[in-house]
Amino acid sequence: MLEVKNLYKSYKVGNKNYPVLQGVDVNIEKGEFVSVMGPSGSGKTTLLNCISNFIPYESGEVILNGENMEKLTEDELATVRNEKLGFVFQDFMLLDGLTVFENICMPKIIKEDDWREMEDKANKLLDIFGIKEIADKYPVEISGGQKQRVAVARSLMNDPLVILADEPTGNLDSKSSEAVIKSFIEAKKKLGATIFMVTHDTISASYCDRVIVMKDGKIFTELKNSGNRKEFFDELLGVLKELGGDGNDNE
Ligand SMILES: Nc1ncnc2c1ncn2[C@@H]1O[C@H](COP(=O)(O)OP(=O)(O)OP(=O)(O)O)[C@@H](O)[C@H]1O
Ligand SMILES: [Mg+2]
Repeated sequence: MLEVKNLYKSYKVGNKNYPVLQGVDVNIEKGEFVSVMGPSGSGKTTLLNCISNFIPYESGEVILNGENMEKLTEDELATVRNEKLGFVFQDFMLLDGLTVFENICMPKIIKEDDWREMEDKANKLLDIFGIKEIADKYPVEISGGQKQRVAVARSLMNDPLVILADEPTGNLDSKSSEAVIKSFIEAKKKLGATIFMVTHDTISASYCDRVIVMKDGKIFTELKNSGNRKEFFDELLGVLKELGGDGNDNE
């Protein structure tokens, strides 16, 4: 469904070239919840930005549902980003002047979809994520965990092929983090959503079907969750230890 093939990306700073992604391959199936871990600077955000074609890459391919992203024009890319991709960021990126309900509707407003359909969809998402009671509030009036659940709801408004989330729990305490991860799991179960998430948080990652571990711009290893979250958590800790540290730059 989402295929990344042999991706190479480097940044030019002055006249020096810094290689960041060095032949990355990723394959995400429909309905999977996959996370990417790895030390700070290993290229995780760069990988997400290459997938959405926000930044150019030297070689390799990003194929979304059989379509090579590089072949799209800027206009087509904008449409793909609004309709086929969903985005969730560490700092929520909600529009402060709009209510929760209006924020959630945004992707459909951009798509110029039918008003009635939009309301139905937004109400359904508010229900699924347990945020109905805050629908008329503004972002400043709700908690971080609520903001992120609003962002998850917004990312699903157009039924994207895949949600790209860069450290969605990075600004949240453990309880709110869990609520956000549970909303991804609900999205997967109830809407068949596919999620590709960068995280430093081993607990969040332990809820995923699969964890890809990056190191120095390459895939270091990949772990599959066999169904026992606690076991998977321990397994992840072991690998991150082997990597040096727990994958978190702060520790
Ligand atoms: N626009 C840029 N110009 C130059 N170098 C960059 C740029 N963006 C990122 N880098 C460098 O590329 C490397 C990978 O950065 P990236 O943001 O992808 O890492 P990351 O794995 O997401 O790290 P973190 O866990 O801290 O978010 C880092 O060494 C970073 O300094
Ligand atoms: Mg990053």
